[in-house]
Parts: sequence; structure tokens; C-alpha cells
Amino acid sequence: MEELRHKYIAAIAAAADEVAIESLRVQAVGKKGEISLRMRELGKMSPEERQTAGPALNALKDEINSALAARKASLADVALEERLRAEWLDVTLPGRPVRRGTVHPVSQVTDEVTAIFADMGFAVAEGPQIETDWHNFDALNIPGHHPARAEMDTFYLARPQGANRPPHVLRTHTSPVQIRSMLSEGAPLRIICPGRVYRSDYDQTHTPMFHQVEGLALDRDITMANLKWVLEEFFSAYFGTKVKTRFRASHFPFTEPSAEVDIQCSWQGGTVKVGEGDDWLEVLGSGMVHPKVLAAGNIDPNEWQGFAFGMGIDRIAMLKYGIPDLRAFFDSDLRWLRHYGFAALDVPTVHGGLSK
Ligand code: PHE
Repeated sequence: MEELRHKYIAAIAAAADEVAIESLRVQAVGKKGEISLRMRELGKMSPEERQTAGPALNALKDEINSALAARKASLADVALEERLRAEWLDVTLPGRPVRRGTVHPVSQVTDEVTAIFADMGFAVAEGPQIETDWHNFDALNIPGHHPARAEMDTFYLARPQGANRPPHVLRTHTSPVQIRSMLSEGAPLRIICPGRVYRSDYDQTHTPMFHQVEGLALDRDITMANLKWVLEEFFSAYFGTKVKTRFRASHFPFTEPSAEVDIQCSWQGGTVKVGEGDDWLEVLGSGMVHPKVLAAGNIDPNEWQGFAFGMGIDRIAMLKYGIPDLRAFFDSDLRWLRHYGFAALDVPTVHGGLSK
């Protein structure tokens, strides 16, 4: 009995895993195990022998069972310790900072402009940046020989060999979207068209790519008074203060009459402040849509009339947010973007508030 005891207690203590423990259990106390066989032999013993051997065997069986359970538990403990060591995590460490991007001032201002004009019933229209010569010039009453073509510093695209149509251009203004919208929507019409435009020019206030927003309102009884009201309403909402405008007679081939529009500003202290003082700053071109332009857009000039304007988005962004150099807009300098950028959740709405 003592031998059996030694053999199993030692083997159990040395068992390396659950499989080994189970096979020892079967060998020792299983139905056909060594201890069980001995118990069966009790019947053949004399009553005296049985009296000592019986309880001793039972005690041995209990001892082996508890040794098995204890070994099992300690193996489980070791496994748990191992896992805890492997999966150790310091939840008190500070988080790793994730730098969030910012919304570019051009995107922000485009959203602001869109919100203000949407409130006045203008829908947003878009057109391609690679434009046909016809949409960019001819349809806007700028024929082939017109000096405006040369003034625009146009980028021309290469033509396939043998093509005899005029070369396509990078649109020099958003005005071709007027034509596209007239052709696809007809009249009445009330749209703005924000987007990229291109001219070969580069200095502190000019970049070869910049942004404009076109406005177009067509109906049966639209006058320049409506244009003036819409623009003053726009500038006052955009700058958050009453802004006076000044209309100066001008000339564009696609409007008649035409006006350049200045907004009231002051230059005190070397910085420009919009909506006060008695200086003026030019911000857009505008006028009543030329009958030839309406006709190119398949709209009857005897029935419909309206106003159009084109404004520089980058320019009004610089004015509102005090950004001195246009070129920096397109340098993708992270320090600049973090300084002048907007939080993603700062979504401008007319009634919820525009950016300050
Ligand atoms: N297209 C003109 C420009 O780029 C602006 C403009 C638009 C003027 C509409 C009048 C009417 O300068």
C-alpha cells in the first residue's frame, strides 16, 4: 500500500499537463485502476484483515483523488500566470496623441458661402475644370479675336494629332458653369458655382490655380437692384457686420451693363477691416447677363433676364481671416494648415452661426 502511495503521489506531482493527470487517474482510481482492483480483493480477506485494509484503501483513494485535484489546480494557476504575464498591459499609461487634420480655409469659406446663398434660394452647380473653348469663351460672348482671351493668361491643353477643333482649356473662370446650367436646367434659375479656376500668374495675390464662386439668377423681372441687395445681404452675413458695397461701371463681354463691386473697409493700423471706414476694396465682377449669353444657353432673351457675378473665394477668405499671402494657401505647410485650419465639427450654417 505504501508503495502504491509513493508511486502515485510522485507521479501526480510530476504530471506535466491535464492529459497526464487524467491518465494517472484512470490508472489509479479508474474502474479498472490499481486501487479499485485492490478494493475488489477485500472480499477474499478475513474480516480482521478487511477491517484494517478497507479504511486504509479508502484513505489512499481519497489521498490520490485530492492529489490529482491539487495538481490540476496548480497547473491551471501556472497557465493563468503565464497568460497574465504575456498579456500584461499598463492601463495607466497616457494615450498616444492622434493629430487630427483641419479643414482648409478655402473649404470652410466655400461652405460658408454656400450656406448663405442656400438661405437665399440658390442651388449649387458644378462644371468641369477642363473646359471647351466654346463654354469658356465663345458662349460667353468672347469671340476668337477678343482681347479678353489674351488677358486671361489661359492654360491650353494639347490636342490629339490631326484634331482641328480649338484646344480645350483649364477654365479661366467659373462663368462657363452659367452656360452649362442654362443648357441643362433652363429658366428660371438661381445657382452659385464654386470651384477651381486657372490662370498663368504668380505673385503675393495670384496663384496659377485659385477659387471663384459664380452666381446666376434668371427670371422674368430681375434687375440690378436685386443684384445689389443679394450681394449686400451676402457680405453682411459673411463678415458678420453690415457691409456697404460700391458699384463701379466696368466691362465684361458676358454682362451688360457690367459693374465691379467694392466693399467698404478701413486700413487703420496696417490691417484691413471690412464693414467700417471709408476705403473700398474690389471683390467681384458682375452685371446683367448679356442677351447673347442667354441665347448661347438656349434661353430666350425676350422672356428672361438676370444678373451674374463672379467672386474670388481665396480673396474673401484672406479678408475675413487675416491671411496675408495667397501663395501659402497651396503650399501644404502643416504649420500653416494647423494655424489657419478649422475643426471638422465647425460646420457653418446661417442660423447655427458661421465661423468667427
Ligand atoms: N468671370 C469674371 C472673372 O473671372 C467675373 C464675372 C462673372 C463678371 C460674372 C461678371 C459676371 O473675372
